[in-house]
Order: sequence, then structure tokens, then C-alpha cells
Amino acid sequence: MSQTAIPVAETLYHHHVNPQWVRLLDVLRMNARYTRCSGTELHTEDGRRILDFLSGYCVHNAGHNHPAIIGALKEELDRCGPAMLQSHVPELAGELAEQLCARAGGRSKKAFFCSSGSEGVEAAIKFSRARTGRNGLIYAGGAFHGLTCGALSLMGDSFWRDGFGPMLSETEEVPFGDIDALEKKLDTRRFAAFIVEPVQAEAGIRLPAAGYLESAQNLCRRYGSLFVVDEVQTGMYRTGPFLASQHFHTDPDMVVLAKALSGGLIPSGAVLMSDEVYDSVYGSLKRAIVHTSTFSENSLAMRAGLATLQVLEQERLGERATELGEYLRNRLREALSGYEMVKEVRGTGLLNGIEFTAPRRLLLRVPFEGFMKIHSGMFGQVIVMRLFRDHGFLTQICGNNFMVLKAAPPLVVEEREIDGFVKAVTDVVELMHSSTSFWTEPLGLARRVMNI
Ligand SMILES: Cc1ncc(COP(=O)(O)O)c(C=O)c1O
Repeated sequence: MSQTAIPVAETLYHHHVNPQWVRLLDVLRMNARYTRCSGTELHTEDGRRILDFLSGYCVHNAGHNHPAIIGALKEELDRCGPAMLQSHVPELAGELAEQLCARAGGRSKKAFFCSSGSEGVEAAIKFSRARTGRNGLIYAGGAFHGLTCGALSLMGDSFWRDGFGPMLSETEEVPFGDIDALEKKLDTRRFAAFIVEPVQAEAGIRLPAAGYLESAQNLCRRYGSLFVVDEVQTGMYRTGPFLASQHFHTDPDMVVLAKALSGGLIPSGAVLMSDEVYDSVYGSLKRAIVHTSTFSENSLAMRAGLATLQVLEQERLGERATELGEYLRNRLREALSGYEMVKEVRGTGLLNGIEFTAPRRLLLRVPFEGFMKIHSGMFGQVIVMRLFRDHGFLTQICGNNFMVLKAAPPLVVEEREIDGFVKAVTDVVELMHSSTSFWTEPLGLARRVMNI
């Protein structure tokens, strides 16, 4: 794109923020200029209506720009109350903490607020160490916990780590689902915690086998380690219940929440914890502010959190996630069975994935392998591009598993929108199995990538 063709705002972003991101969106033909977003709908400057089946990676559970959350934020601003004084008791934080702990249940009694998922994971790392007096941390293969140094130390994928120097020491990986490997490590009694996503989203919407999380929790208790669940994507009714770990009757020592916590409008995260964990960190007057963060209990984030909970519950969005998730998976399974490159449709609530696999037929295998040679994410990215460009659906492939396409719309999605999505995915899948254009056209894309 020539310099003059780039609109002013984009030029500034391009020059002063992240030009590679702009280029990537251009290459993928996904650099739309959105003017208005509401519910599941994203409207663009050139008059297109895109349906969001990504939800900003599970930020927009309540739908984009929910009027009740916007209204609550406006009211909070108009109040001109204390914000970020750092010298008072922010009562709204107490209110939100009480509501979150009540919904999490079990041993969740206190909340530490922060401004992102990574920051929540960082806090969980420090708090686990404080509680146990141990340094080691165990994480599951394929995990995504965030990109700050501590959180990144709990992710094995070298793509995210390479070039950033040494991470935290004493962090060790076990395969997700492998209870024996976990016990072997816990048995050394060197580990402060096992930190795990109840459903691994970026690893490819991986669901735990029956009994895995309960056994992991029991082993943690037996060997004196904490059981910490990262519900940054799965929490806030995304999978039906308030927390995905509630499907499995666990009672974690800590729960990390972020993303959907504040309605997709204000950054916010929370670590829910037991009184024992709290006491080990903040147990004396001297330690009252030993772990804090400037923006953590700010009134806008707290107000947004309270309003978001109200919307999610008044509109029964957890129940909707359960019902419509089931509907989506059933429809996708019906439509996609019989296509050799579709391996599985799986998920829980409205956190779902379609896993693709290498084709057996030579006619398809040759171009598929050609794609893989160019980039392991290219095949999935072409599906994403076609869904966006040809059918008006925003999706993405999973960050740590490029063969899985995510389907995670806002929980306000309607049945007819799901029907449209199923039809669009089916059309793209049909095209990849039957037409050379699916395979030849992206070679132009590959050329563009190579030239950039
Ligand atoms: C499961 C999980 N944990 C933690 C994080 C990090 O959250 P943030 O990007 O807000 O730092 C993410 C981000 O995608 C996530 O998916």
C-alpha cells in the first residue's frame, strides 16, 4: 500500500506503534476499519457487517459495548468520586471481590485485583511461593498464561520465548492430562504450585479427561503444592458455569480471572484466593501493601466488573453458552462429518474448536504439504481469511495449535447467527476439498508474505 493511500490514523499507528501488525493484517486481507461494534456485530467503514466469532479471545462475553455496562461506566465517571488515590479504601473493590468469591465458592475468600491476565498469573506465582516457601512451578504442555516474564516461564512453546533471555528458573512442564508425570514432580516437594487452564484454549480447545483436574488437585494437596486455575479465557460463564473448573468439582487455592471480567471496556484482572494464601502474603501490618499495582482497584474497572456480572446473570448468558454451545457443536458435526480434513469438533459452552488434519488423498496432500512448508500456520490462516473476506465472520486459529479454528462468539450470539457461521465454515471446507482455488489463490498471499 502506498504511503498516501494509508489513512492518517493508520499512518500514525504504522509509524509509531507496530507496523508489522498492520502489514500482517494487510497481507491477510483483514485490515478492516471498524466504526461501530455492538453485540456480535462489527460494522466497517466500507459498509460491511462482520460477525465476531472470536470475542477478542473471550473478552466480549457480554457482547460488544453492552449499553448497561457503558451506562454504569458513564455514571461512575459522572460521580467524580475518588479514583486512584492510593490512600483510601476503594469500597467498590470490596463489593466486586465479594461477588466474585461468592460465585467461585469453595476456598475463594479474597481477591487481588490487577489489570491483565499476565499480571494475575504473576501474582499467583508470587503468592504460591509465599504460601509454600517453595520456588518450583509446574505447568502443562501447550499452556498459554501470558507474555510477561513470569507467566511466559509457564509456557513451553519456543515461539513466545525465543530472544527474550532467561525466564524464571525452576519451572517445569508436564503433559496436559498426564497425572503420573504430575505426581512424579509433585513428589519431590520442590513445587509451590501446579498452574493449569481447566480447558486449554490456545493449545487447541483441549478438554481435560474425566477426573484429571480432580486428581491433580488431590495430588497437589497430598504433596503440599497449591492448585491454581487460570480461568482468564474460560471464566465469566464462557463455558456455562461461572468458572470452567466448576464443571469438574474442583476447589482451587487460587483462580485467575481477566478478559471478560470488565465487559471488554476497561482492563481488569483478579486473583481469587483462600484466606490461607492471603495471610501468607499480607499477614501483618508491615506487609499490607507488599504486592500492589497502581491501577488495580480503580473505580472504573470495579464498576465495569459489577455491571458485567449483572448483565451476564440477568441475561442468563451462562445458560445460553451451554445451550447454544451444544447447538453449535451439533450443527458443525452434522455439516462437517465426511470431510477428510476435519478431524474433530469439540468444546464446552461457547469455547469451541474445529480441528483439521492433513488429507490422505494425494490431490489434496500435495498442496497441503506445500502450505506447511511455507508456514505451519498458513493453512489455518487461509481458512480464517476466507471466513472473513468471503463470508463476514471474524475467527482465528489457536495460538499454540494452528490446526484448530476457534469458534467463540459473544455469549449473546443468536441461533440464526450460528446457522450462518456453520454454513460459512461448511462452504470453506467444501471449497478446500473440491476446488483448486482454495490452494492456488493463497500462494499469492505467501508471495506477499515473503516480500514483506
Ligand atoms: C489462559 C490465559 N491466561 C493468561 C493470559 C494473559 O492475559 P493478558 O493478555 O491479559 O495478559 C491469556 C491471554 O490470552 C490467556 O489466554
